[in-house]
Amino acid sequence: MVVTQMPKLAVVYLSTQGNTKIMADAIADGAKSRNVDVEIKSFYDWKPEDVAAADAIAIGSSTFHYTILPPLEKFVDNVVKVGIKGKVGAAFGSYGWSGEAPHLIADKMRKGGIDVLDPVLRVQYKPDDKDIKECNRLGKDIAEKIKNK
Ligand SMILES: Cc1cc2nc3c(=O)[nH]c(=O)nc-3n(C[C@H](O)[C@H](O)[C@H](O)COP(=O)(O)O)c2cc1C
Repeated sequence: MVVTQMPKLAVVYLSTQGNTKIMADAIADGAKSRNVDVEIKSFYDWKPEDVAAADAIAIGSSTFHYTILPPLEKFVDNVVKVGIKGKVGAAFGSYGWSGEAPHLIADKMRKGGIDVLDPVLRVQYKPDDKDIKECNRLGKDIAEKIKNK
């Protein structure tokens, strides 16, 4: 018997007040609607090697003091170190006024050889219905990309 496994998306987020988590949930919902296996957790609850084992990796963070919080930065570096070459990636996050974190995450992922999809999604403060639809769309795009690999 041949058992075919569904491709897997790992969604990782850092969210202090829930704004980036709303985006993460909407990306996960979009991908689930296209029949991929999705696991979504705060970065505190992920092991870098489990993230790196997925077919696609979406990492989101809000911006603090014009950058990524150091624990998440270290986590992303560790995921890249395990090896993510040739996988599908996405970066996202809520922000207030400058919003550097999602682009910094995307840069780190790209340096690790992962194909980061456009757009790097940024939402100011709490996502509205239109933002949530964009996150759903990104989740669907990730799913289509890993299903066609
Ligand atoms: C102490 C502090 C520092 C912040 N620094 C920045 C910043 O440098 N640039 C920016 O765009 N937003 C900044 N923000 C705003 C947050 O990124 C924003 O509130 C975001 O929606 C939080 O999302 P979260 O609930 O997912 O953590 C800061 C917020 C706080 C509380």
